[in-house]
Amino acid sequence: MAKSSVCVDWLLQKGWGTEAPEQGARLTLVEQLCALLREGIATGALKPGTRLPATRELMQELDVSRNTVAHAYEQLRVEGYLVSHVGSGTFVAQTTPETLLRAPRAARAGRAAPLLRSRDVVLSQGAQQVLAHASAADRQWGAFMPGVPDVSQFPRAVYARILNRLWRHAQPEMLTYDTAGGALPLKQALVDYLRVARSVQCTSEQILITEGVHQAVDLTVRTLVDPHDAVWMEDPGYWGIANVLRMSPGVVVVGRAVDDEGITLDEHASPPKLICVTPSHQYPLGTVMSLARRRSLLAYARKHGAWILEDDYDSEFRFASRPIPAMQGLEQDAPVIYIGTFSKTLFPGLRVGYMVLPPELVTPMRRMHAELYREGHVVTQLALAELIREGHYATHIRKMRVLYGRRREWLRTLILRYLGEEFLVEPDSQAGLQLVLRLPDHFDDVLLAQTLQSRGVLGRPLSRYYRSPEPAKGLLLGYAAVPEETMQSAFFILLQALKEFGARPSVR
Ligand SMILES: Cc1ncc(COP(=O)(O)O)c(C=O)c1O
Repeated sequence: MAKSSVCVDWLLQKGWGTEAPEQGARLTLVEQLCALLREGIATGALKPGTRLPATRELMQELDVSRNTVAHAYEQLRVEGYLVSHVGSGTFVAQTTPETLLRAPRAARAGRAAPLLRSRDVVLSQGAQQVLAHASAADRQWGAFMPGVPDVSQFPRAVYARILNRLWRHAQPEMLTYDTAGGALPLKQALVDYLRVARSVQCTSEQILITEGVHQAVDLTVRTLVDPHDAVWMEDPGYWGIANVLRMSPGVVVVGRAVDDEGITLDEHASPPKLICVTPSHQYPLGTVMSLARRRSLLAYARKHGAWILEDDYDSEFRFASRPIPAMQGLEQDAPVIYIGTFSKTLFPGLRVGYMVLPPELVTPMRRMHAELYREGHVVTQLALAELIREGHYATHIRKMRVLYGRRREWLRTLILRYLGEEFLVEPDSQAGLQLVLRLPDHFDDVLLAQTLQSRGVLGRPLSRYYRSPEPAKGLLLGYAAVPEETMQSAFFILLQALKEFGARPSVR
């Protein structure tokens, strides 16, 4: 919504044009307009700095003469409610007569006013748990933020052209709630893309478009898991999934250690309802789940009636070998719910992802999705479908694969040149958007990450991904969005901090 229309909305909401505003019978139009604008400013509906429509624009919206609007603006300018800047328009003043009258005497005299006592807030148990483990970083852009693609490379001009075309012909159905689990053209485009790129076997019926992996996990847990059910997570694993699970009180979350082949199984533990895994590229360690482990996991899930949630979040970026096929397509009728996202291939703020559901889950999960979240973003989804169909999506991924591969190599070179190979986690799967810088066990990687952040370098402490009381220490370093020209200077800041923390590079 354009900023200036806030004012029009306010006036229409107050009954302008449909019924006589209060006192309307006794006041001139100029006085009525002034009264409503004063009220809007005094109540905060029109905030300081809000731009008012041009006189010609407001005259048309309110069906009054231009003079009426001009006189009202002039009156409010004189009273101190509005200010005008030549060439840029009329704005609500930062300090209005009301704010001066309301300001406590102490504040006016330059002393701080006592804080208002805040209301007691009792948060839900789930919220308390999530907030105690809150991990979403305030800063999301900069060296070496993990999991972030180079959003500056996104083909904006192409996308804007597609969006423009769609908006010009937008039908009402594209702007209402959706109830079909996503726009059909996107689902069809994904069927083809996933078959070729990820060996996923499905029909468009099985695809459900979501607002990303987080929503997909939330939907799955709400649909399939009851209190006292167990859910297995990889340990270490993605904090985002752990936090979604914390919002389901009573659910027993079990961290299962990850070895060189992937998540470890336990025939003696009580079987879980759901097993959350990242087989193509374990998050955060980067291992690939072996074929033998995949088969065992599938057999285990079939035997115990469990569902496998396959999070295939950044599988497109594999630099040294061909992409690893998804588990979903490995066996006929596999008990796998596959989830993918455009967050890593395009940009995280897009908030579009997808699920591939086993046929028996299609109806309940689609219904649940519509009931819980109400579906939308149809125009965005149609634009993504075009992006895929016209080939831009595949081209972008290919281009990014080359770019990220180079950046990964450069970061590895810096680590090997200035620190030594014991600082790299092996096996290096040569995939994804980040790698793990391994640190000795006595390191406080949380404090190190905080220190680095205060110096403008981002990176996540590895220990924060563990449920086990004895986490490995390290830093997750994202390289995808760090150009080679600037990587070295960020790396030197990291190196300096590491030395201050007592790291002993084996190379000098
Ligand atoms: C393992 C993993 N899954 C999923 C996501 C996020 O996916 P989305 O943005 O689609 O919610 C991330 C983000 O970093 C991730 O690391």
